[in-house]
Amino acid sequence: MTKFYRPARQPAYNTFGMTEMINDDTNLAVASGGTQMLFGFWYPAMAASELKSRAMKRTQLLGVPLVVGRDAQGRAFAMRDGCPHRGIPLSFGKVEGGELECPYHGWRFDVHSGQCKLIPSWVPGDKLKVDRIYAGAYPCEEADGFIWAFMPERDERVEQAPPVPRLPLFGKRYRLAHLSAPLPVSIDHGIIGLMDPAHGPFVHQAWWWRTRRSIQLKEKVFEAIENGFRIRSHSPSANSAAYKLLGVYGKPITTTIEFVLPNLRLEQIHCGDYWFSSRAIVTPITSQECRLDFSAAWNVFLTNPLVTPVLKFFGRRFIAQDTSTMEKQALGLRNNPRLMLIDDADRPAKWYFQLKQAFLDSRRTGQPMQHPIQEPVTLRWRS
Ligand code: FES
Ligand SMILES: [Fe+2]
Repeated sequence: MTKFYRPARQPAYNTFGMTEMINDDTNLAVASGGTQMLFGFWYPAMAASELKSRAMKRTQLLGVPLVVGRDAQGRAFAMRDGCPHRGIPLSFGKVEGGELECPYHGWRFDVHSGQCKLIPSWVPGDKLKVDRIYAGAYPCEEADGFIWAFMPERDERVEQAPPVPRLPLFGKRYRLAHLSAPLPVSIDHGIIGLMDPAHGPFVHQAWWWRTRRSIQLKEKVFEAIENGFRIRSHSPSANSAAYKLLGVYGKPITTTIEFVLPNLRLEQIHCGDYWFSSRAIVTPITSQECRLDFSAAWNVFLTNPLVTPVLKFFGRRFIAQDTSTMEKQALGLRNNPRLMLIDDADRPAKWYFQLKQAFLDSRRTGQPMQHPIQEPVTLRWRS
């Protein structure tokens, strides 16, 4: 891995290569284009609607090739897309009942455990223990419109995976929508782009949203939560999405935004009995590509059938503004530029890198994680 470090002068800002903020390969790697992806978490492999019964689909998570499909009962499975015999992608095979048959020599594997169930060339009396052979299989669940796979730390079988992170819901009646979009950058750039408060007036300009002239001073209190941080509940400013959506009810509106490792941004907006809850996930596909998987649920305007298509339309436009910016950014990143993080607008990004490092350190040493935020901090920026 190329280290990116220029020790000479002391700049007035933090750069991605500065030791003050960053002192390990993980973060130095950001500047040089690489990035470390976090295993040991659930990731959305694809939208559940993409997976018709009996069809298998190929995808990748954290650079691992996956085949995702459904068994005869319609239950989703996720396996490593490679036969343990000679490595042919299992996605060329076929699913029968709860087993996937490899197209090369017909070995059959249980789609949920990966255990080998049949080797057609096996002769009774052969020493080979068929049931000791496993193809890679990952815990897999369907939730909130996505098929999720748990990607273990080492390529090992997981007996008991933690629960899938769910989209917070605040009542029984609501509408739900999902949007996904490819982001041609590393997970780190995807995440700091997602939490970045300063690009709004420039990237998300639109007559229906806001203009550059709407820039104003923002001041928010951030506090630590487990594996992340939260912007303390506040009233959104008049140019925010929450205000535009719920302002019509005339009651006080509160917003809470959280970031949680490895890649979740959760936002909850409440106005009396009305609520809007969203979750943005930056899903690492390879070290240089990720995907934005966005879900939202709300109980406002439930009876109006136009709300979902209208929100989806604007949601898509909004996300397209981010993706097209990141496509341009990716062109610049090819040249391995030196980058910087400034206070206060980029402080959440700095915390992200510190959290990730603290998490990796704690995993390595077995010690409790040292949270970078010790007490609530007020950040100020203009956006
Ligand atoms: S390569 Fe899969 S059975 Fe031989
Ligand atoms: Fe954005």
